[in-house]
Amino acid sequence: VQELFSRDAGNFRPSAIRAFARLINDPNIISFAGGVPSPETFPAAILAEIAAGIIRERKAIALQYGPTRGLPALREEIARICGGRGFTASPDEVIVTTGSQQALDLIAHTFLDPGDIVLVELPTYIGATASFLARSADLAGVVQDEDGLDPRSLREVATRLAAQGRRVKLLYTIPNFQNPSGRLMSQARRPEIVAMALELGFLIIEDDPYGELVYVEDADTTPLRSHDAGCVVYLGSFSKILAPGLRCGFIVAGEAIGRKLEIAKEAADLCSGMLDQSIVEEFCRRGELPAQIARVRAFYRGKRNLTIDALERHFGGVATWTPAGGGLFTMVTLNAPIDTAGHIEDAIANGVAYVPGGPFFVDGSGANTMRLTFAKETDDRLREGIARLAALFTEAEVKL
Ligand SMILES: Cc1ncc(COP(=O)(O)O)c(C=O)c1O
Repeated sequence: VQELFSRDAGNFRPSAIRAFARLINDPNIISFAGGVPSPETFPAAILAEIAAGIIRERKAIALQYGPTRGLPALREEIARICGGRGFTASPDEVIVTTGSQQALDLIAHTFLDPGDIVLVELPTYIGATASFLARSADLAGVVQDEDGLDPRSLREVATRLAAQGRRVKLLYTIPNFQNPSGRLMSQARRPEIVAMALELGFLIIEDDPYGELVYVEDADTTPLRSHDAGCVVYLGSFSKILAPGLRCGFIVAGEAIGRKLEIAKEAADLCSGMLDQSIVEEFCRRGELPAQIARVRAFYRGKRNLTIDALERHFGGVATWTPAGGGLFTMVTLNAPIDTAGHIEDAIANGVAYVPGGPFFVDGSGANTMRLTFAKETDDRLREGIARLAALFTEAEVKL
């Protein structure tokens, strides 16, 4: 059958994170691996009541095919949500997607020919690179520092590739509490990066699933799209603020881009699940979302704080880590040249798991990093897990 697979299928990549799923679910292992929200944050009772009402009373909409662009009332709610995040979006600019993962696939399908370049942050989200690679695009890494993506690196990489005759089509960025690094791109950089996209002729794909998950006082998460609606396609998701099983994400894009994406979506799934959309719409219409976001923030804030405290207590002198002022992750960088992938078996034997950072770096760097999520475990297990990790890597450093 091999000879029947498409050229693109030859570039499909299984997720290096999903490979850890079995470890995440073993109750004997304290897991910093995985990146899924805690079910404790899902407002199950409200959703159950909403779902029952919708199935009984709105079957002609919720159990029927719907418009490819999404339930009109939900698109209106999403436009309002965008206004609250600091940029203007009209319902006409919104396309509801089956999670923002589908948005990434539709964008890859719509913009990328084999060999086109997508600029991505070092490190970046593996689900996005999988979508770009699946269309046989090439990825080029752009350096980040504590203020996020570095505009000097962006200019250098983009102009070098263009000079080599490569077509730089997209910059993919997660400016707010990035997966996997937890970094927040400074506001000072955002207009500069948007101006560079306009100057150099590429489109920015701004992926923002974590912008509402803020745990610190002074974080300004205003999206890049607030600086220019023409060259920035904005992606949002209800996965991290409500529940990922509802598979509700969205794209905000101008008319020309939106029309193409809509046709791509028509071919992909006709429409996203109407029951999911109806539930999310009703949840928003009732005004439940702000309280839900407040609950989610409160739930993770304590876990984030104690994880950072434990890192300070146990990892000082051994590693550095990102402050994770929001989102679900901190990224730890070991001071010594230790390959974290080589220690995962040891870690598991010690009852603790993490995600090695290497696969998040498209340039092959990052072997001495690991991604930790504080979303899954109880407070005591988070503290104990950091202590165990520190013991493991302190010992590994001694053995070097
Ligand atoms: C940066 C980023 N983008 C997109 C997604 C996909 O989310 P969903 O398809 O559930 O909206 C994730 C999920 O973890 C993510 O971290």
